[in-house]
Amino acid sequence: MKKTAIAIIGCGRIAQNAHFPALTTLENVRIKYACDLIPEKAEAMKEKYPAIEQVITDYKIALDDPEVEAVFVLTPNYAHYTVTMDSLRAGKHVMCEKPITVNYQLSNEMAEEAKKQNRILNIGVCNRYHKSVEKLEEMYRTGKFGNLYHVYCSFRSFRSIPGLGGAFTTKAQSGGGVLIDWGVHFFDLILYILGGAKLKSLTCDTYCEMAKDMKSYKYHGMWAEDTKDIENGVNDVDDFITGYIRTDKASISFNGAWAQNLDKDEMFVDFLGDKGGARLNYGNFFEFCSGETLETENPEYDIPNMYLREDEDFIHSVETGEKNRNHIENVLESAKLLDSLYKSAELRREIEV
Ligand SMILES: NC(=O)c1ccc[n+]([C@@H]2O[C@H](COP(=O)([O-])OP(=O)(O)OC[C@H]3O[C@@H](n4cnc5c(N)ncnc54)[C@H](O)[C@@H]3O)[C@@H](O)[C@H]2O)c1
Repeated sequence: MKKTAIAIIGCGRIAQNAHFPALTTLENVRIKYACDLIPEKAEAMKEKYPAIEQVITDYKIALDDPEVEAVFVLTPNYAHYTVTMDSLRAGKHVMCEKPITVNYQLSNEMAEEAKKQNRILNIGVCNRYHKSVEKLEEMYRTGKFGNLYHVYCSFRSFRSIPGLGGAFTTKAQSGGGVLIDWGVHFFDLILYILGGAKLKSLTCDTYCEMAKDMKSYKYHGMWAEDTKDIENGVNDVDDFITGYIRTDKASISFNGAWAQNLDKDEMFVDFLGDKGGARLNYGNFFEFCSGETLETENPEYDIPNMYLREDEDFIHSVETGEKNRNHIENVLESAKLLDSLYKSAELRREIEV
């Protein structure tokens, strides 16, 4: 069996928790390099997964290796653009984590480069491989909702700003806060379920309220705590967002909070149609309610590992040249949406998209 040789660039949380466990189960993949600026992180992966062939700190070594066909860019957002562009120019196919990069203009440049180099560039919008999302997309396509007129989503958590003061809360490095970090998943899956809805106009407000004084902010949970820098760092990103979007299909309203003074974590998307409605409990099951029978369905199935399916499908694209659902050209509308929401918040008014 042909094995596709790959390099993993960035061996942090998403690499450790999702992509290494997935990729090491694929028989048609050979992990030639694990790369991280911090050598201990890549070495820890090699120790855990002995099939990894080499550990490096400079990704250019992998790009210079003609055996390597594809790379996984699993670095923080600020490095997505440079590492992806270098990789494409070196003739490699790329699977880059979400968000594409810190803004829409650079996202477009990445898409253009992939086209120019005739290479696959996929984005890690993993929810498109979640069984519930796939089922809802099919239900929308086959008319189960009737006229799906509105979608409401809420992704709100109690005092859980990640890595306060570090890359997550420094706009120049992350591109933004809860909108780009969590919103990217919610808005992407909504646009996907709506069959690639096109944006018309929108309005958004963003707030940076909860940790204006980083030293006095008390947190309930802080993921990415290893990246925090409360003493000398920066927090200039949104911890709460709200807004309204008009598309050529359903309208969308939303609230998102990395942190709020309410101990009520909510992560759901409601789809409202004249024949049926559904609540997607994010990352989990969904309920469908038919307007005619007023029955609630709670489908049961094994939730597959969406990262495994995402990675498998990327390797399939590398081998066949076929563009799949996570190809950058199918994800650009979500990047445009995030950018436009930030622009509306800056202008403090509704904008046409
Ligand atoms: N799809 C998802 O569900 C999901 C979940 C979490 C994170 N992410 C995304 O994954 C990316 C990484 O997030 P994370 O939480 O794993 O971050 P992290 O900080 O834990 O890991 C990133 C790693 O990249 C390394 N790195 C940075 N620049 C590098 C370079 N030039 N060469 C080699 N290594 C480099 C860092 O040293 C670090 O170990 C982010 O873009 C994030 O948005 C996606």
